[in-house]
Amino acid sequence: MDLARVTDAVDQGWSRVRDTPGYLSEREARFIMTALALAPAEGANIEIGSFKGRSTVGLGTVARMLELDPVHAIDPHTSPSSTDPDLHGAVTSYDEFIAHIERTGSSTHVVPHRAFSHDVAATWNGPIRFLWIDGDHTYAGAHADVEMFKPFLADGAVVAMHDVLGTFEGSLRVFVEDLLESDEFGPAGFSGSIGWAQYRPRDGHALGHRMRRRLLAIPARRLIPVAESGRNLAGWNKYVYKFWRPLAPHGDVNAQRLARRLRT
Ligand SMILES: C[S@@+](CC[C@H](N)C(=O)[O-])C[C@H]1O[C@@H](n2cnc3c(N)ncnc32)[C@H](O)[C@@H]1O
Repeated sequence: MDLARVTDAVDQGWSRVRDTPGYLSEREARFIMTALALAPAEGANIEIGSFKGRSTVGLGTVARMLELDPVHAIDPHTSPSSTDPDLHGAVTSYDEFIAHIERTGSSTHVVPHRAFSHDVAATWNGPIRFLWIDGDHTYAGAHADVEMFKPFLADGAVVAMHDVLGTFEGSLRVFVEDLLESDEFGPAGFSGSIGWAQYRPRDGHALGHRMRRRLLAIPARRLIPVAESGRNLAGWNKYVYKFWRPLAPHGDVNAQRLARRLRT
């Protein structure tokens, strides 16, 4: 993939994400768009948890500009989990979601599934090259999302999970236990509060990959009890969080470096 085209598509994507309500920082948006562009595998692109479409419009724009397959955007749009954003009295986020993907010109490259991830997984078939998990952030929910879709991951696929370096204990535990501690995954890292890993069952056990994942898991594991304590960081927890979080490198994505790391 031509990196100049990737950078241009990501810039265009960000200009649409910026004006769309939701929960994703610029750093995180740029990371998922770049990873979508660079995942060196064939197959479908999947988003679990769309809400009002903030991440969706970025992914849809990049898919359109780089002529990738569309993004399957899965969300019942009822904020069913205790970890979901409040709908503030509205019954659904669906109408706003549709309005945003249409306004940003990304609807041609987004396939909405107004459904739970487990319902889509039950009938899914075919390989997946990019999996963005931003749905139910409880341990059970995030673990189920990884378990249900992992059998479909193509060799070289990228999995990115939101809020693993925030205060969501479920997502963080799943990222550490199911991805960082698994030799089925190779290169891995953080960007903002996103944790990502590349599915590499062939060589995930290689010393370089395993060591790097273990190094990332050290600070991440220390943050699990902090995340468990809830969203109001205070006292000792605040100190632990401030000490360990910077030790998990989570800076801006560099497309050239990511492309090098993802090369299979
Ligand atoms: C944090 S929001 C997603 C934010 C969005 N990605 C953004 O960029 O603003 C979480 C969403 O996950 C959805 N959700 C919760 N459980 C789900 C599940 N099991 N399957 C699919 N979506 C789910 C909720 O309806 C909610 O809209």
